[in-house]
Amino acid sequence: MTTGEHLGEVAMRGPDNILAAFEGDRGAEVYRACVACHTLSPDEGNRAGPTLHGVFGRRIATLPGYQFSDALKKMDIVWTPETVSKLFEVGPMIYTPGTKMPEQKVTSEEDRKALIEFLLKTTKK
Ligand code: HEC
Repeated sequence: MTTGEHLGEVAMRGPDNILAAFEGDRGAEVYRACVACHTLSPDEGNRAGPTLHGVFGRRIATLPGYQFSDALKKMDIVWTPETVSKLFEVGPMIYTPGTKMPEQKVTSEEDRKALIEFLLKTTKK
């Protein structure tokens, strides 16, 4: 660090540094609101929330090994760019009432788009 040399390659190696790999990406910035509770790769597993690895095309509350709320398990939603975007447009309390995910919104449409694009790139199986 002190030499000012480029550490990019090292920084990008671990999944923990996925945000470093996407530095300057607006979607990665928006995703910072999610990192406390979610991971993007299978080997990092679940935090307070389920891993988002492979989330697109997945039916809500079906990830094996994660204890979803009963409210979520009863819902009939498939996660797509549209439904994930909607979740943070109206907020989890309205889109998925009874969820244990804390209420939060991504109010800017542009930010939601950037977030979804980021997730499409980083959660692919
Ligand atoms: C404080 C913790 C927390 C934060 C921050 C958070 N989540 Fe969650 N999230 C959860 C929990 C807990 C669940 C499971 C909810 C349940 O079972 O009711 C969840 C569920 C989800 C689901 C549904 C997953 C599935 O398999 O059905 C998606 C999608 C999701 N979160 C995306 C996000 C995104 C994107 C962000 C950032 C904008 C975010 N979450 C921020 C805790 C969080």
